[in-house]
Amino acid sequence: MDPGADAQHGLSRVAAEKHAPRIAVLASGRGSNLQALIDAIAAGGLAAELVAVFSDRPQAPALARARDAGIRACVRDAGGYASRAEFDDALFADVAAVQPDFVVCAGYLRLLGAHVVGHWLGRMINIHPSLLPAFKGLRTHARALAEGVRDHGASVHFVTPDLDGGPVIAQARVPVLAGDDAGTLAARVLEREHPLLVASLGLLCAGRIALHEHRVHLDGAPLAAPLQLTANHDFA
Ligand code: GRF
Repeated sequence: MDPGADAQHGLSRVAAEKHAPRIAVLASGRGSNLQALIDAIAAGGLAAELVAVFSDRPQAPALARARDAGIRACVRDAGGYASRAEFDDALFADVAAVQPDFVVCAGYLRLLGAHVVGHWLGRMINIHPSLLPAFKGLRTHARALAEGVRDHGASVHFVTPDLDGGPVIAQARVPVLAGDDAGTLAARVLEREHPLLVASLGLLCAGRIALHEHRVHLDGAPLAAPLQLTANHDFA
């Protein structure tokens, strides 16, 4: 499959139907990144519609955030499925039913199978709390401290079957300070995650960012390096 074709399909549908891009969010926990999207849309800073929030955890605070904002909140408990593939199929049938143009993984803590990832290639992004390709996976802040890096941060990337390994769209960088522990560092990164996700999704929804032949393109040209979020919450 040509991922670019799928992404283009999503965008041409947006253009043809003249609607704001429809966004589905996957979230397993706290939902502060979801809240950042909700707030940005409400403030007129992001031209998109959040059509539904999906979670694999019934108690996820993200679901309450969605309901409070009047957004459809859907739960599928992974415990009831024999395999990851069966669960993915059920969850992504729900996702497809709300006809999103793009899917945002915002703290979704389950691995996604290659089958669903392939279907949504170029239309699904994830936010990860490290400067990828450094520190894929879990406990990124503690690992960054243990390695003694001077800079840490967050990345927004297209989701591919390679865990946290898809092409990176944009990053936000923060300094590691003397005396940091995983909690203080995580808080500094999270503060930058929110504008990073809003700005990245804004570019995607505007049709300025796309995935072609496994490379991120901005305004039709391949990106040499991930965009960097500035202090003004914009991109350098
Ligand atoms: C964030 O740090 C995000 O980068 C990671 O999971 C965390 C989710 O936080 N993937 P929240 O649920 O959005 O508050």
